[in-house]
Amino acid sequence: MRIAVPVELESETRVAATPETVRKFIALGAQVAVQAGAGLKSGVLDAEYVAAGASIAASLPEVMAGSDVVLAVRRPPASALKGANPGAAVVCIADPYGAAGALNEVAATGARLFGMELMPRITRAQVMDVLSSQANLAGYRSIVDGAAEYGRALPMMMTAAGTVSAARIFIMGVGVAGLQAIATARRMGAIVTATDVRPATKEQVESLGSKFLAVEDDEFKQAQTAGGYAKEMSADYQAKQAALTASHIAKQDIVVTTALIPGRPAPKLISADMVASMRPGSVIVDLAVERGGNCELSKPGEIFVTENGVKIFGLLNLPGRLAATASQLYAKNLFAFVETMIDKEKKALAINFEDELVRATLLVNDGVIVHPSFQTKA
Ligand code: NAI
Repeated sequence: MRIAVPVELESETRVAATPETVRKFIALGAQVAVQAGAGLKSGVLDAEYVAAGASIAASLPEVMAGSDVVLAVRRPPASALKGANPGAAVVCIADPYGAAGALNEVAATGARLFGMELMPRITRAQVMDVLSSQANLAGYRSIVDGAAEYGRALPMMMTAAGTVSAARIFIMGVGVAGLQAIATARRMGAIVTATDVRPATKEQVESLGSKFLAVEDDEFKQAQTAGGYAKEMSADYQAKQAALTASHIAKQDIVVTTALIPGRPAPKLISADMVASMRPGSVIVDLAVERGGNCELSKPGEIFVTENGVKIFGLLNLPGRLAATASQLYAKNLFAFVETMIDKEKKALAINFEDELVRATLLVNDGVIVHPSFQTKA
């Protein structure tokens, strides 16, 4: 069983295997080939992969040749999969939404494609949950980036030259990323408040020592789906929420937004008027920018300053700004999943298509898109 780790696309800093996971795969009887330079942006040298037992392939065709498993962060283009064995398992963040054309191209190569972001959030799969491992780091990084862009200190400081007051930070959306943002902002000495539409978050916010702010009406009480996610709120609720948060946002130094609804565009929580009400020098970090943004003014991939001096931070891929840590956790997520597909006695790939983890993540098999959520109608 040969496992390939190709170089990622130019814009991606993470890597799908670390020396630690390479060692673990080799212990299961696999051979691992890493394309030269694949770990560089995550701080891993080829020599470290070699020390872990991997071979280094000079080129993409060389790394792919004869591979049974391809580990990647982003979905590799179909053209990159040339040379992999028929039925090779490509395991990555597949980004399948609206990508039927590209998925069909992957299908045509004969590869099997697994989307790690589709992993069910059940206890057995927690160790494989890339959304959580990466969102946690995004939440941390949102505060580090917000603090770096903010022209003042976060903690209160009493100095001989005068007192510096603590920064006020507001977190909108308290899932995995938001909770880590709260914890990080608290550790850095800020005064933290947070909001969400799921009632369960109130206690979580308070247990982290910050104050919860939300419209707690009947709709709020029903806002969490059975899967633990938020529903899209009614226009009426959104208006009440905007009225409640508008005056609060005006007093904040940093606002971090992380609000998402599965399969829907990100809810718009900060209007242009709200941005206009903020003080010059304040910062908005919009983590939802890849899904349309929580702030009306956010621009994907950009940091810019509005006319009234508010900095809006819309850089993409925050986990990639912590590439070494993000890769360490992501590679572990992949190992935990791929390990379940390895027959330890035969030392070969043995996919159990009845396994609920396989069923949930398998997008492409036997030349077609097999995932019911992404099949296109004939
Ligand atoms: P997410 O990334 O889908 O959304 C982020 C947050 O935005 C959520 O807390 C959501 O309630 C909030 N939100 C949505 N619309 C909003 C609005 N209009 N205003 C304010 N906030 C809004 O969420 P994430 O981080 O993926 O977590 C989703 C759920 O999954 C949570 O209940 C979490 O505890 C759960 N989870 C379960 C795991 C497991 O293994 N059992 C692992 C990780 C998360």
